[in-house]
Amino acid sequence: MLTFEPITNVLGATVQGANLAQPLSAGDFAAVLDALGRYGVLCFKQQSISPQNLRDFSACFGGLQRGVSGIHEPGFPEISVLSNVIENGKPIGLPDAGQDWHTDMSYNDTIGFVNVLHAIKVPHRDGRALGDTLFANMHAAYEGLTPELKTQLADYTVTHDFNKFWEGMVSRPGSTRKPLTPEQRAKRPPSVHPMFLTHPITGRKVLYCNPGYAIRINELNEAESYRLLNLLFEHQLQPKYQYRHQWMVGDVLMWDHIGTLHNALPDYAPHEHRLMKRCQVMADRIFDPDFLARSTSMHLSA
Ligand code: OGA
Ligand code: MN
Repeated sequence: MLTFEPITNVLGATVQGANLAQPLSAGDFAAVLDALGRYGVLCFKQQSISPQNLRDFSACFGGLQRGVSGIHEPGFPEISVLSNVIENGKPIGLPDAGQDWHTDMSYNDTIGFVNVLHAIKVPHRDGRALGDTLFANMHAAYEGLTPELKTQLADYTVTHDFNKFWEGMVSRPGSTRKPLTPEQRAKRPPSVHPMFLTHPITGRKVLYCNPGYAIRINELNEAESYRLLNLLFEHQLQPKYQYRHQWMVGDVLMWDHIGTLHNALPDYAPHEHRLMKRCQVMADRIFDPDFLARSTSMHLSA
């Protein structure tokens, strides 16, 4: 049986009693789903798992997204490699994934549900880990809105565009990214989602808006949309909503994209090596009441 120990009262729990090299029992799976909604970020410590274990575990939660970069674990197109390691003059992974506030795949009609990252190399300096990942709690950010804003925003929708984050990265000093070609942009057209989503696990509202991809509140004129989006970005990133994860080798960290934002801190140098293997799980099943009901009833009968 699994137990969950909260890490902070904002977000995060450490999962005890799990060996992800083995399939989860139905009861454990249901408990993990419930905990994902409750804690947002779950850390399984000291996991030694194969790429296949990582893929099989992740696939329990929904369909797996294939990375567009083409840099993936050999033989596993669903496992992206995030790394600044260079081997034989070639990068073995994406060196700069997720280095600003965002939530994965909000620009997609089918949004992201969870990411699962296995930490293989964690950079250190003077005995301290580098390359932490920050998270922000969007259940709490919703709750923290004034009643007036909750009412005003209730039926608003937001356009999310993959190109916004990409452009932000291109314009960074030293970036090797190039602007997307019209063909690449056409493959990732913007997508529209409600400002507030009802979280499929908790049944509570979340603020589903993020600085990385949100470009427009569709019901407002451009100037008013710009003003309100900036106000929301500032609101949702307040330190009181944040948890900072310091990685250890062997961590399998999974987080809920619907209820959190994240930001990978690039505070390490090229010779300080970071290496993560990642599966991105889409929200193609989690909004299906049957999927949840099946999981829950398995939990009760397990
Ligand atoms: C991601 C991402 C975070 C990290 O995997 O989606 O943004 O810490 N990466 O590498
Ligand atoms: Mn990300």
